[in-house]
Amino acid sequence: MAQDQEVSRRDFVKTAAAVTAVAAAVEGAPAIQKVRAANDQVQYGMIGTGSRGSYLLKHLKSIDAGRCVALCDINPVNLKRGVDTIGTNPKTFADYRELLAMKDVDAVFVITPLFVHFPLTRDALLAGKNVFCEKCLVFKPEEVHALNALCAERPKQILQTGLQRRYSQFYQLVKDMVDKGVLGNVHHIHAQWHRNMINKPSSLWTMKPGGEKNIANWRVFRSMSGGLTAELTSHQVDVADWMFGASPEFVMGLGSLDMLKDGRDVFDNIQLIYKYPNGQKLTYSSISTNSFLPYFNGTRPEMGEIIMGTDGTIEITVGDDVHPAIAWWYREPPKETDAQKKAAEKKAFVAGATMVASGGANGPIPLMTSDLNFTGKENFFEKEVKFAKRWLTTKGVMVQEEPRNPVDTELEGFFNSCKTGQKPRADIQVGMNDAVAVILSNMAMDEGRKVYFNEIDKLGKGAPAPAKKG
Ligand SMILES: NC(=O)c1ccc[n+]([C@@H]2O[C@H](COP(=O)([O-])OP(=O)(O)OC[C@H]3O[C@@H](n4cnc5c(N)ncnc54)[C@H](O)[C@@H]3O)[C@@H](O)[C@H]2O)c1
Repeated sequence: MAQDQEVSRRDFVKTAAAVTAVAAAVEGAPAIQKVRAANDQVQYGMIGTGSRGSYLLKHLKSIDAGRCVALCDINPVNLKRGVDTIGTNPKTFADYRELLAMKDVDAVFVITPLFVHFPLTRDALLAGKNVFCEKCLVFKPEEVHALNALCAERPKQILQTGLQRRYSQFYQLVKDMVDKGVLGNVHHIHAQWHRNMINKPSSLWTMKPGGEKNIANWRVFRSMSGGLTAELTSHQVDVADWMFGASPEFVMGLGSLDMLKDGRDVFDNIQLIYKYPNGQKLTYSSISTNSFLPYFNGTRPEMGEIIMGTDGTIEITVGDDVHPAIAWWYREPPKETDAQKKAAEKKAFVAGATMVASGGANGPIPLMTSDLNFTGKENFFEKEVKFAKRWLTTKGVMVQEEPRNPVDTELEGFFNSCKTGQKPRADIQVGMNDAVAVILSNMAMDEGRKVYFNEIDKLGKGAPAPAKKG
């Protein structure tokens, strides 16, 4: 018990410092945005108002920092859905070039299938617009080089990628815990995104009539999509890049199409291993036949990451409109001192007992976000409420929710960057590293080999990829 209290006091102090830092870094306080909104809105257009586009419009509707003035989609039904969702009576187009020609459009959202991200983003940048492009930024190696070159020529234009975990307070807090050493030496991350597409098919991944000729099937054909790696892994390999503070050195993996044989040619299950510098690794799995998530006592399905250090572990998953974000922290048994070791040896010898490693007080500790922090400005009642909420959270009675959906924060962050020129958290570098990881992961599975990340330097430049190393 004494040890329990000692560890928890020390770790909580470190974590509290991390929480405060995160709170200070949260972008876009709503109160400030409201004052600015009336005369300082970013006028934007969106290209692609399908499933994700409409979801983003639903969120954009309540963000004062931007105003939708134009929408474009080649599918009239989806275009109308976008118009109905945003409700600002935007101009509508089937040809994105007409939207880009609008002088009063400052920023453009590219929310189309992956295979058209690059041409649309390129043309929007060339038209002088700031761009928010959904992940993955690009589809092919040649597009990596072309977009990097274009952005280098246009450093003042904002390019943000839709990697919303970067905007989550929970993930930011965990990143701070990793950087401050609360988890000790973090060497391994495991991530999974498992779905049961057999019992609960997702409309996004279901084959519609027309096969490859129907763009609505873009996700399930390699000519238009990076498959599970692009749609799911991309989020989680970005988390690993962020937590490790590095890009992988190489990736190896296995992918196959075993169950969903309806004419698609993307894999329906993939397993990947990413090797980072200093022996750090991300192991990854995405399958389509089972949705169980062995984190959070099995209370949430599908996706999450587990971040493992010598002093502790974090289980984390992102929230959405339905589920709150969750982050649970477990502590490792503390390092044994020499005196403890001697005492244990003596006891074992005397009693003839087998020594077992003590797990210590290792139950999950839910992480708390900044809204439960004490600022010193609370009145008596507010302070009592915070104390009660913190206590209930540590007892597991109350689930601490992320104060804002990170999607709202990423959208507000984008408008803020458009106004101030401030580099987005998910900037071109983050987005490009992520897109490269997806391209090379698929190559590793297709070619059945270890693919080095520096191969991207030559890929797509007309020179053959370097021969297999190591
Ligand atoms: N960040 C996330 O969590 C997240 C979640 C879901 C989807 N996404 C991404 O969002 C993007 C869109 O996915 P989705 O699920 O909305 O797909 P979708 O098929 O539902 O919608 C895509 C829309 O783009 C339109 N479109 C295609 N080509 C076009 C063009 N040249 N000009 C104008 N419109 C065009 C289509 O008609 C369709 O309405 C993908 O890149 C996907 O990876 C991100």
